[in-house]
Amino acid sequence: MRSAATDAAPVVRQARQCADAFWLRLVTWQKTHGRSSLPWQNTRDPYRVWLSEIMLQQTQVSTVLGYYERFLTRCPTVADLAAAPEDEVMGLWSGLGYYSRARNLHRCAQDVVARFGGSFPHSAELLQTLPGIGRSTASAIAAFCFGERVSIMDGNVKRVLSRLLAFEGDLASSANEKLLWKAADELLPPEGDTEAISRYTQGLMDLGATVCLSRQPQCLICPVEALCEGRRQGDPARLPIKTRKLKRSAQSLWLLLARSADGRAVWLQKRPASGIWAGLHALPVFDSAEALEAVMPDALRPALQHLPAFLHVLTHKDLHLHPVQVDAARSDMAGLEGRWVAAEDWPALGLPAPVRRLLEERATRIG
Ligand code: ADE
Repeated sequence: MRSAATDAAPVVRQARQCADAFWLRLVTWQKTHGRSSLPWQNTRDPYRVWLSEIMLQQTQVSTVLGYYERFLTRCPTVADLAAAPEDEVMGLWSGLGYYSRARNLHRCAQDVVARFGGSFPHSAELLQTLPGIGRSTASAIAAFCFGERVSIMDGNVKRVLSRLLAFEGDLASSANEKLLWKAADELLPPEGDTEAISRYTQGLMDLGATVCLSRQPQCLICPVEALCEGRRQGDPARLPIKTRKLKRSAQSLWLLLARSADGRAVWLQKRPASGIWAGLHALPVFDSAEALEAVMPDALRPALQHLPAFLHVLTHKDLHLHPVQVDAARSDMAGLEGRWVAAEDWPALGLPAPVRRLLEERATRIG
């Protein structure tokens, strides 16, 4: 039962008041207008739902589709994933970005096997104790797979609920985010209606992705338009309020692209566990052209060829990458950290996207 207490914050009380109309409309709308045939829907297998939720963090549905199928073909169960070599997991993830997700994915699978006998726990509370599973992801898995009455709070949901409730709090503050989360809890369908909870959760995601758009909310086709306080006030697109701007930085890096003189291998290093491209395989990275030249054997230095620099944009950083190419006898590189990797082997490794692109263009061409 919903409590009738009046001591809650205004936004929480407001949520309580419109809850029944809100969840009913959203659930009804999801049945006919929401997404229903994505490969991670129509299953209650927590392994599949978890994998999709991790892949969908910061990555679009259209990009995830191919990766998701490949991942499941190679690792059909959580035990298969736990037992897979780390390099293979990084290879399957290669190109999706945010590689800490892949490392946590692997650790999480190993934890599920070690701590829970290979079955994901059934509550959001326990799911959150696993690596890489935050509160919102835990809630999504628990709601979709086990019908638990818990709320998600990703970027789309923050936008939908801030507008619905005309929430003026700055979401850069965690206290305001917690308050919105409390309001979200009030809006959930009642305990026990597991079908409604799963559909409601998907409905919130779908509404945020297809109707309540960031810059151009489609209020005329919105199922909860009549309940939306942001709309009533006239300018829903100004919400949510979030003041913190990403502080972008820039970094220049020099990449050594050493190809074996026989044209059949490239020199790669495995990156350390922290720092840029952690855990991936990459071309040797240097902070300056001088630092790169300093590690090269004397005989190779005159053969270094500076290729055009290019820009690779990360969320927080612009990387200015300067490839330096050289064709070397295999023995020339003996003193450097790394190893020769054959042309048929590097495509399966976990490589940063710009390194993969460079290798695709240059790895096997001589000259
Ligand atoms: N983004 C995060 N989870 C999703 C889901 N289940 N369906 C579509 N997009 C999503």
